[in-house]
Amino acid sequence: MSLHLAAKPGDIADTVLIAGDPLRARHIATTVLEKSVCYNEIRGMFGFTGFYKGKRISVQGTGMGIPSTAIYAHELINEYDVKRLIRVGTCGAIQKDLSLGDLILAESAFTDSNAGNMLTKGKIIPVAADYDLLAKTMLTAAKLAVPVHVGSVFSTDLFYHPDRDRWKTWTERGVLGVEMETSVLYTMAALKKVSAMTLLVVSDNILSGAALSAVDREKMGRTGIELVLETLVSIE
Ligand code: HPA
Repeated sequence: MSLHLAAKPGDIADTVLIAGDPLRARHIATTVLEKSVCYNEIRGMFGFTGFYKGKRISVQGTGMGIPSTAIYAHELINEYDVKRLIRVGTCGAIQKDLSLGDLILAESAFTDSNAGNMLTKGKIIPVAADYDLLAKTMLTAAKLAVPVHVGSVFSTDLFYHPDRDRWKTWTERGVLGVEMETSVLYTMAALKKVSAMTLLVVSDNILSGAALSAVDREKMGRTGIELVLETLVSIE
């Protein structure tokens, strides 16, 4: 048991899917995984371990934002020896041609948060996905004919920022979307030498104002989840 997780040693698999929304984590565990068992309900931040095509996989809610994600990623890595963390989340797109429901693989992330600096004690390090995992996911996507966009994302501390037009430079630079977790996940993974990757479903387009409902956000993304799970099954 760690401070925020009730799991006993061995209850959590080596590979954990993490979702900001704990209800999404529970939805994945109960609809996609088999024989899933709940190991955490503290703060309603559900964690389950189950199986996909025989492979043991956990799925854990993290809450929204870098501080909350950092708590769960820290405990999963340091207290439960988790070796691979795959964020399955949502983002706001900042490219016109990205539609609701599109899938994004975050090959890198940058941020306005200071958490990464604190973790690296001010050293600048690459903030990128595990390339091997990313490449294998892209291969699986090609095999399954699942379209994915691959590129950088911005992890922000503020969902409601006073400058509503702050995207312009990043849109021009080809940044795909905005979310609130990936940069700290990639930083922690680099420091602890574990594997990490983020797959995002476009839940809103910040430029057009289009957005999915909360219910759709919780339920959608099955294609993306299956893409990740099929990749994991193909690895070992
Ligand atoms: N901003 C930040 N994070 C998000 C968004 C957004 O528009 N959509 C989903 N996660």
